[in-house]
Amino acid sequence: MTERIAQIKQEAQAAIAASLPAEERAATGKAANEARKALETAIAIREEELAQGELDRRLQQDRVDVTLPADPLPQLGRLHLITKTRREIEDVFIGLGFNVAEGPEVERVYYNFDALNHAQTHPSRLMTDTFYIKPTDDIFDPQTLLLRVHTSPMQVRAMEGQPPPLYIIVPGRVYRPDSDATHTPQFHQIEGLAVDDDVTLADLKGTLLAFARAVFGEQREVRLRPHFFPFTEPSVEVDVSCFNCVDGIDKNGNRCSLCKGSTWIEILGAGMVDPNVFEYVRDRGYDPEKVQGFAFGMGIERIAMLKHGVPDLRMLYDNDVRFLEQF
Ligand code: PHE
Repeated sequence: MTERIAQIKQEAQAAIAASLPAEERAATGKAANEARKALETAIAIREEELAQGELDRRLQQDRVDVTLPADPLPQLGRLHLITKTRREIEDVFIGLGFNVAEGPEVERVYYNFDALNHAQTHPSRLMTDTFYIKPTDDIFDPQTLLLRVHTSPMQVRAMEGQPPPLYIIVPGRVYRPDSDATHTPQFHQIEGLAVDDDVTLADLKGTLLAFARAVFGEQREVRLRPHFFPFTEPSVEVDVSCFNCVDGIDKNGNRCSLCKGSTWIEILGAGMVDPNVFEYVRDRGYDPEKVQGFAFGMGIERIAMLKHGVPDLRMLYDNDVRFLEQF
């Protein structure tokens, strides 16, 4: 802008100088100078006015009324109840000195059944109980692939990978051809395995008591009932004392719906690692004459449902926000 004005000025002066007789040049030059100064001043004033106007306009436009209510918060995401429950359980066992390990969901017959001491005739090997990757595969070939039916295959994988002492938990997805109010074809388990010298059933019970109290309340007790699993001997099912009633009667005076009045609730399966399982990893330092172990496996959904009174497992997978928001 100022460049352009200077240029015009120069051109005007040159034109005037060239067209005027010598005696008029001084007076005309003076008058022209004054006119120029007047114009320049006027332009400067106007520039200043325009700039100020722009500032005023901006200040007016950008004004923030700090007394206005804020925009409503957007709907925030949250962890799913299954994730929360998994983390809660993990934290308990990490606090007890266990490490977290994970393994493949597509697993071999060898790890899912054979090395876990399942007889060839064990019914859970059948297609009706296990998802095989290729229905045409030989289900007795150790290399055949399947979707793991439990997290227990990681027992053998973990022992292959590291000598004792071993203290691990294994959270993960598992798969079974089941579907009703308490079963979905895909669900989650947490496996536990402790192998050391001098590990006893009492250690198992103490560990599970600490777990039950951390998750279900300090007043809880646990009891072990004899059971059968191919890969533990002895095997037990573990119950926790009911936290919804006193002597089977709930706070409304009715028979407790959680424990059905029995005062005990089944929470998981467990046992002492069967020496036959150690035979598969004997050369990795697991001599069954020298080490013992306990193992346990629980359903994460089951723990979440018991703790939060969820009546139907499928609610955990419906993704109804009104349900999920409660946790
Ligand atoms: N794998 C067993 C199940 O899915 C649970 C279990 C794990 C039992 C470890 C004993 C020891 O039912």
